[in-house]
Amino acid sequence: MGRLRASWVVKDILVRTFAPSHALAWLGRWRGSGPTPTVRGNTQLSLYSRILPGGFLHYGYFDDPSIEPEAVSLQAVQRAQVRYAEKILELIDAPDAPVLDVGCGMGGLLGLLEERGHQAVGLTPDRFQIDHIVGAYPEVPVLHCKFEEMPTEDYRSRFGTVIHSESLQYMRPDSVFRVMQDILAPGGTWVVADYFRFEGAGERSGWPWERFVSLASEHGYRFTHQEDITANVLPTLAFAHLLGNRIGLSAYDFACDKLKTKAPAVHYVMENVAERGREAVLKNLDVIDPERFSSAKRYMLLALKAA
Ligand SMILES: C[S@@+](CC[C@H](N)C(=O)[O-])C[C@H]1O[C@@H](n2cnc3c(N)ncnc32)[C@H](O)[C@@H]1O
Repeated sequence: MGRLRASWVVKDILVRTFAPSHALAWLGRWRGSGPTPTVRGNTQLSLYSRILPGGFLHYGYFDDPSIEPEAVSLQAVQRAQVRYAEKILELIDAPDAPVLDVGCGMGGLLGLLEERGHQAVGLTPDRFQIDHIVGAYPEVPVLHCKFEEMPTEDYRSRFGTVIHSESLQYMRPDSVFRVMQDILAPGGTWVVADYFRFEGAGERSGWPWERFVSLASEHGYRFTHQEDITANVLPTLAFAHLLGNRIGLSAYDFACDKLKTKAPAVHYVMENVAERGREAVLKNLDVIDPERFSSAKRYMLLALKAA
């Protein structure tokens, strides 16, 4: 394998941009089917599943919220993810009725449901996740669609439990309540684990808490379990923030410094791009800053029943 020299990089970019054979290839891709919508193939979630291959994509639950970020490990996060799943399973009160895991990610919860004898059904619109689940849990039926597109006529009052494990935030409130009305069995439980934002906190991700509470009441739901687990999810964020700063940002600066010393002219051409890239890295680190998270959001574990 060749070394990654600056002169090789420049030459390769020029050849791939201007050589007629390559121009035809990139024109073909340009005119091709276009980008895949994130909801149908989320590369960021796919990356997380490679970093944490335990079958879960959520923040996890640390029994000891005071653990220092330096003391957290990938293994500890994976254990916390299983613990989070167990907390959800404790809220199932109709063990014999089918359970729908909405936005089932890599299927970790489906595996645990199966192990405990529940009739589990998964749902995800993401093709990377479907490919994985079909191989890992071949016995579990999985619907390949958005929750909002679920063929509700085939599943009317079917589920004794519907679970949204860190997936509610990706969906539109009006559609979620519409589908829930159709598929939850009488007396069934809706389990939600997700973060919600405070109105006016300047954040965009997560549903506004007050709006969720009033929509739930308008649609006739009452809360049977309401637990604020913000402190228990923060160690994962603090760990990710630490890794991002110490490893991610340091590696980025190292690459720029290396280019500057080894190929000053190429560095000059790339300087503005590199600066923009660094700003983007800092912005992403800010999103996972645990202090910022806890000042604007609450992570809730909830169970609701139709009144
Ligand atoms: C953060 S992951 C959580 C995955 C899993 N529930 C877990 O706890 O590990 C969010 C999940 O929601 C799914 N999702 C996003 N938008 C969705 C939609 N409109 N309908 C159904 N699932 C959706 C994603 O594909 C992904 O599986």
